[in-house]
Amino acid sequence: MTTAQIFVHIHGLAVVLSLIGFITRGIWMLKDSPRLKAKWVKITPHVVDTVLLLSALVASYLLFWQYGANPAYVTVMIVGLVVYIGLGLVALRLGKTKAVRASAWVLAIIVFLYISAAGAMKTPTPFTSASAHTEAKA
Ligand code: HEM
Repeated sequence: MTTAQIFVHIHGLAVVLSLIGFITRGIWMLKDSPRLKAKWVKITPHVVDTVLLLSALVASYLLFWQYGANPAYVTVMIVGLVVYIGLGLVALRLGKTKAVRASAWVLAIIVFLYISAAGAMKTPTPFTSASAHTEAKA
């Protein structure tokens, strides 16, 4: 296994943990659970998301950036991460009503799943037949 592959796997693991944590905190938010205020619940997502981003940056450098390349799906993941963070902030912190927070939470999960599909299938259009065609040609 190459060093790049190791970082891609660390990234993939952090992705799974991040999604599980985000879904769990959203459910606690909807139920007004006091567990959301626990110290470890506030700190752990920052640790997981830092690992997610750092491993992504190292993998991107090793696989592409050091050769001056940048595939479209990596751009999708960077922009998608910013959108996901924004929606996550509205869902768990800034949203004024529960309806707004719940909507932002669902949208954030959809964005996250889209980014994951783009990463796993290595294409910015994972849900179209055109992407399968592109993959076949690559
Ligand atoms: C919420 C944000 C993100 C999610 C959900 C996500 C999800 C994923 C997933 C599921 C994979 C496939 C992992 C595997 O094959 O084991 C992947 C791969 C990858 N991601 Fe992300 N990612 C995110 C952010 C980023 C960012 C910000 C970058 C770049 C700075 C990035 C760069 C990469 C790279 C380079 C790969 C490896 C692709 C390859 O094997 O060719 N990701 N990502």
